[in-house]
Amino acid sequence: MAIVTTKEMFAKAYAGGYAVGAFNVNNMEIIQGITEAAGELKAPVILQVSKGARAYANHNYLVKLVQAAAEENPEIPIALHLDHGDSFELCKSCIDGGFTSVMIDASSKPYEENIALTRKVVEYAHDHGVVVEAELGTLAGVEDEVSVDADKAMYTHPEEVVDFATRTGCDSLAIAIGTSHGAFKFKPGTKPQLRFDVLEECSKQLPNFPIVLHGASSVPQEFVAMINEFGGNMPGAIGIPEEQLRQAARSAVCKINIDSDIRLAMTASIRKYFMEHPDHFDPRQYLKPARQAVKDMVHHKIVDVLGCDGKA
Ligand code: G3H
Ligand code: 13P
Ligand code: ZN
Repeated sequence: MAIVTTKEMFAKAYAGGYAVGAFNVNNMEIIQGITEAAGELKAPVILQVSKGARAYANHNYLVKLVQAAAEENPEIPIALHLDHGDSFELCKSCIDGGFTSVMIDASSKPYEENIALTRKVVEYAHDHGVVVEAELGTLAGVEDEVSVDADKAMYTHPEEVVDFATRTGCDSLAIAIGTSHGAFKFKPGTKPQLRFDVLEECSKQLPNFPIVLHGASSVPQEFVAMINEFGGNMPGAIGIPEEQLRQAARSAVCKINIDSDIRLAMTASIRKYFMEHPDHFDPRQYLKPARQAVKDMVHHKIVDVLGCDGKA
């Protein structure tokens, strides 16, 4: 199957009560780990590229690697998505350069500016057969070097979503219900709790409309423990409980974004490898188990959190 948009994926996910995983990709091993898991499980998958990923790996390399992954896994739909596009020019460059979906994240701008910029991206994207994710509300955490304190984060106002979706024409909407970017989402000792009431109200206002959750890594404690055991220092890294993500996946949430868990899986694996093999220096030796760790983590998410196995 060629690289597709998220249109049909989301319609099926909404109707089927599951979510599609959107995993951030930065290199070949990450793309292989994710798509091998999705391919074996016959699961649809979204590979997303941030502005930072594009600066690190180069647009062309990432597009070609994703095209190779699609050829290697012809039986599953794969979408190529721009994560947190921050300008019309960046979105246009990805639309012109082979992406099937873009996010314009103008959520930090005043409401009317968010609408105007999102509308402009939607018009260009739709003219080129590309779908658009927009965002209303502000998540806490670190995203592309911008850090938002938890007390400055704002839940999405459900009374705004119809006006926003209608006036922008966006195809999916990221909302803020208490998720947060990065590996340190909550202060140790606090009890993470997503605002399902806000999610429910937003989806009631926008029936049949795909909702997106950013900042949805669960920060598996076995990875944090491994990192700390093998020379790292990440005390108090905490994520979203997986039962809450599973509950969200059964609702109008059709896309769940995961990046930090990929980073943790790779870092834990590589740290362990070096401690156990201090004399090794061939990158293939330590990237092979790191790629397998990404694959195992994604396998678990697809089956136990997203519920999208067998839905390709
Ligand atoms: O939400 C942001 C993603 O985790 C991407 O992170 O900008 O460091 O690539 P990045
Ligand atoms: P995490 O930091 O929770 O993995 O969130 C990733 C994300 O939202 C990418 O847009
Ligand atoms: Zn995000």
